[in-house]
Amino acid sequence: MSSIESYLEASRARFEEELCELLRIPSVSAQPAHRGGIQQAADWVAQRFVRQGFATEVIATAGHPLVYAESPPVEGVPTVLVYGHYDVQPAEPLDLWISGPFEPTRRNGNLFARGATDDKGQMLTHVFGAEAWIECKGRLPLNLKFLIEGEEEIGSPNLEPFIRGNRQRLACDCVVISDGAQFGPDQPAITYGLRGIAYFDVRLTGPARDLHSGSFGGSVMNPANALARILTALIDEHGKIRIPGFYDDVVPLSDQERAQLAALPFDQQQYMQQIGVTALSGETGFTTLERRWVRPTYDISGLSSGYQGEGAKTVLPSSAAAKFSFRLVPDQDPEKISRALRSMLAGLCPAGIQLELEEHHSAPGVRIPLDSPFVAAAAAAVEYAFGCPPLYTREGGSIPVVSTFHDALGVDILLLGWGQDDDNTHSPNEKFSLADFHRGIKASCRLWEELSRVRR
Ligand code: BES
Ligand code: ZN
Repeated sequence: MSSIESYLEASRARFEEELCELLRIPSVSAQPAHRGGIQQAADWVAQRFVRQGFATEVIATAGHPLVYAESPPVEGVPTVLVYGHYDVQPAEPLDLWISGPFEPTRRNGNLFARGATDDKGQMLTHVFGAEAWIECKGRLPLNLKFLIEGEEEIGSPNLEPFIRGNRQRLACDCVVISDGAQFGPDQPAITYGLRGIAYFDVRLTGPARDLHSGSFGGSVMNPANALARILTALIDEHGKIRIPGFYDDVVPLSDQERAQLAALPFDQQQYMQQIGVTALSGETGFTTLERRWVRPTYDISGLSSGYQGEGAKTVLPSSAAAKFSFRLVPDQDPEKISRALRSMLAGLCPAGIQLELEEHHSAPGVRIPLDSPFVAAAAAAVEYAFGCPPLYTREGGSIPVVSTFHDALGVDILLLGWGQDDDNTHSPNEKFSLADFHRGIKASCRLWEELSRVRR
């Protein structure tokens, strides 16, 4: 690896500059105004693969384009599929960014920009890992296929049909994804579980127009009051979700896994400080890591109704709306949850109010077996690059396509997150530690070598 190591050393500034180039492209998948940025980012990624001699295609979908690239084929060695995403979450609220979301800026060893860690920076570690092999050794020690999408942050609505329709083309021995976090600084991790998600929009409509709350209040159901009542009815004071049947498929945590999670070096005080709270809360009877990683949850993400301007306005609003989601654990079926929610909401909706429920994205949770040669190979690569063996963690976030890869391609997935919990993903001032970026590239280089020796 010595020639590769010196190549990486000599390329540090250029790797960072290339990442900055991609970060300057505002590829926000949720906002139609950024369609141009989406196309530009897809083209940038495709060009990057073309430059290192990969057979590359930008593939149109019903939504945002996919980029697919293959390294020059080598006989008799394993094939690994790398998945990542070039789309990013909206940058709002803009006034809270210290430097512009699409003007990558270095501060204290970090690179700040929307998408720095989620997922442009992490995705590029594998592109550069492949480049280093090609430049230093003339070829990769295995076959690489890259599938980089532009809709991850909106639930990957068009990826599943593509994967199911291209099984042969995507055939591989395992999938590698870097779109998550380490356990902490200098505590790299291999993630063996993700939560799933079921996301909804509810809208309540009452009177035909806003009313004077003095003249009419008390005589008609106020949609905002009704919404508040409905939303709080979904969870009890012990943090248990009250939808009938919600816990039917939740597999209880084994004593062994509980002990494993409890043994992780988790610092509750530091966690509270990091997120700026004076107390933690959640489902009674579970630790903070259990609440974040292995228990299902319910969170309201947006609420709107009535007067939001300055001062007071005595109004009884004609409608009220909320966005909320459940994070699900493996074995819970998003569709079953959605049906149960729909029927519970119908029962909760008061007379005089019309309720509409819109379903956004959903994805099942996943659990990945740790006793595979691929995990052993990844552990060796991580230890080589980070100087210590990985911890084994789960994550509370979701990557919708992971279960599709497993079901459609019949392979295991390696979740190797290079980020940190305090990277401010989906929030203002997103960052990626440049040290983690370079260690991620180094780990990626080593990973190709380790995985090339695995025989299924
Ligand atoms: N990178 C995250 C997923 C993630 C978050 C992994 C935290 C590990 C830890 C990904 O980009 C993401 O945000 N996914 C969405 C999916 C949703 C839009 C369907 C999420 O979890 O909210
Ligand atoms: Zn994300």
